[in-house]
Amino acid sequence: MPKLFSKRSAFSLRKNRLTQLLEQVRRRGATPIDLTVSNPIEAGFRHSPETMALALSSPENCRYAPNPRGSIETRKSVAEYYGSRGATVDPENLILTCSTSEAYAFLLKLLADPGDAILAPRPGYPLLQFISQLENVRMQPYSLRFDDRWNIDISLLSDLLKTGARAVLLVNPNNPTGSYLSGLEWNEIQSACAETNTAVLCDEVFFEYPLGVSAPFQPIPHCKTLTFFLNGLSKSAALPQMKLGWILVAGPEPLCGEALDRLEVIADAFLSVSVPAQSAAPSLLQSSAALRDRIRRRLRRNLAILEEILTDHPARSLPVEAGWHAVLQLPRIQTDEEWALELLDSKGVLLHPGYFFEFDTEALLVASLLTPTEVFSEGIRRLADFVQARTDR
Ligand SMILES: Cc1ncc(COP(=O)(O)O)c(C=O)c1O
Repeated sequence: MPKLFSKRSAFSLRKNRLTQLLEQVRRRGATPIDLTVSNPIEAGFRHSPETMALALSSPENCRYAPNPRGSIETRKSVAEYYGSRGATVDPENLILTCSTSEAYAFLLKLLADPGDAILAPRPGYPLLQFISQLENVRMQPYSLRFDDRWNIDISLLSDLLKTGARAVLLVNPNNPTGSYLSGLEWNEIQSACAETNTAVLCDEVFFEYPLGVSAPFQPIPHCKTLTFFLNGLSKSAALPQMKLGWILVAGPEPLCGEALDRLEVIADAFLSVSVPAQSAAPSLLQSSAALRDRIRRRLRRNLAILEEILTDHPARSLPVEAGWHAVLQLPRIQTDEEWALELLDSKGVLLHPGYFFEFDTEALLVASLLTPTEVFSEGIRRLADFVQARTDR
């Protein structure tokens, strides 16, 4: 029989043990305390119906004259958004996509041929593994090490760069470790990439959510090699339903120009960004600042609660610089999966086990700081009681 399906769609379709247990718990009629919420709408952060209706009422929505790079008005509003972050961006260096995930897919088509490798952080967000598999690209991990803070071993990364990888993926701040790149790390990686003629992809979807640092390093003006910044409305404006992302191309000419021309052809093959999303984006980007403030307040409050509950406790929260997640180190008396299964089964609290993100340390769990505060504090209290009782045994 000839084969019917591609290798790249050969995903493991088996449900993991935590998902199976969650289904059982729900069948019992219980509603677990969910500390994995990453959808800002589910977490209570909504733009008002009036704001949404007004943003979506443009007469432009009745026309169709597509620009493969995205409408210039929308790109100007994205450039203004960068201006509000203190970075000067030319709208001509932007390409719109329908999500950050699609931006990754376009960039892998631009930079890599089937079988080529890209370097990606470990621990990291599992979505990136799926996207690279779908693009027939190998993801080769480089490690983030925890040593008071999460950092990149630059000399190991530089060695990996010499093995012919097509690009380095940086997630700034990384998800779920919540660690920003320092100026030193950024400049060293840029120099190593410039020497080896390697591109940089820099995912900034959580950049706007600093927690432990006041002013993160702004990398945009400091690009020595061809660099692509990825972002979108789903996290930066808490609008996952709008489906709008973008790529900012930076670095030396004439490489930027050629990259933009090639990306235009890739985007033209799909024309995936809807007119309503593009025409609504300028006003939604403006009104998103207030929502981001509210989100930051929630994240900081939950982090403070976490630290308070886990003071002098066998579990501890690792330092978080940014983002929507906290990483919890539990006693290493059993695996992260076992902790997650027991917490769900006996305390009704759902957290992500660290292995989802390929941590190489045992007994780490990941909690969403986006969770409504009362739910969060009840969930963490139950976790703390459970861990204490298990370690006192
Ligand atoms: C680090 C990171 N990058 C990208 C994405 C995907 O973003 P989008 O919803 O814009 O596709 C996510 C989703 O959670 C993420 O965590």
